[in-house]
Amino acid sequence: SMQTVNTVVQLRAAVKVWRLAGESIAFVPTMGNLHQGHLKLVEAAKNNADRVVVSIFVNPTQFGVTEDFGSYPRTEAADQEKLAAANADLVFLPTVADVYALGARTTVVVDGLSNAYCGLSRPGHFVGVATIVCKLFNMVQPDVALFGAKDFQQLMVIRTMVMDLNIPVDIIGVETVREESGLAMSSRNGYLSDSERVIAAKLYQVLCRARTSILAGNQSLKEIEVDSVFFLHKAGFHPEYFNICRSSDLKKADQDDRELVILAAAKLGKTRLIDNIQLSR
Ligand code: PAJ
Repeated sequence: SMQTVNTVVQLRAAVKVWRLAGESIAFVPTMGNLHQGHLKLVEAAKNNADRVVVSIFVNPTQFGVTEDFGSYPRTEAADQEKLAAANADLVFLPTVADVYALGARTTVVVDGLSNAYCGLSRPGHFVGVATIVCKLFNMVQPDVALFGAKDFQQLMVIRTMVMDLNIPVDIIGVETVREESGLAMSSRNGYLSDSERVIAAKLYQVLCRARTSILAGNQSLKEIEVDSVFFLHKAGFHPEYFNICRSSDLKKADQDDRELVILAAAKLGKTRLIDNIQLSR
């Protein structure tokens, strides 16, 4: 039977019982409105520890002032049913006031990584993400934590933070779960109209096409980027970036880098979509 707690004190009491029994703990941080992607993380968590803690917290500090914090879908009752069915052991559902003390002054900045790509159009976003994940790690004190490769830059920010600050949590990345159309599952897909949903699937198709072109080796990486942006534009997106990067540090890839990730973000109407694809050559 799954427990739901709202305060850090209750969370620590529940975790302590498991720790005293010698059990290991896996942690899946989320902002709720759960879909198959989130549930894949819970499943992977089950395979990596005795107990699984899931947090649902729409973190205000990672949203820009013009972004969708206020309208972000909040579906806690349905989320808890899904988590119980997925055999999570505990759901942590804190309030903003419990998480952020008035006058808190400390943040976590992962220099360099936080300012590129999504960080360019969302200033402060990754500071908000790194800070809340660091805080949640200190609240839960898990052995392992799971993150989706869907948010590739976020995963890299978290891995770097954990390494740089000696945080004793193993980070496990989980492959992106997609709709049949190829569209990466996301809580924000609910904002899409039926016709936008058809277009949205093309983001993944363009990533796949770019991967094929890279592997064919007939065009420069720059040409492939430019072609892809053009194609997205033609399909009805407002492309934000489309970059072929090396997967080790997300710097722009050279012709001789072998482990690559293509990172993309594009707006479709009012919905901002991100996706990525990895390849080795
Ligand atoms: P959220 O968008 O709810 O995502 C929670 C976790 O689910 C993240 O690790 C994300 O990468 C993963 N995820 C989302 N869609 C996925 C998909 N289609 N396939 C696989 N995994 C997927 O990411 C956040 O929340 C927040 O930034 C958070 C880390 C909780 C900090 O507030």
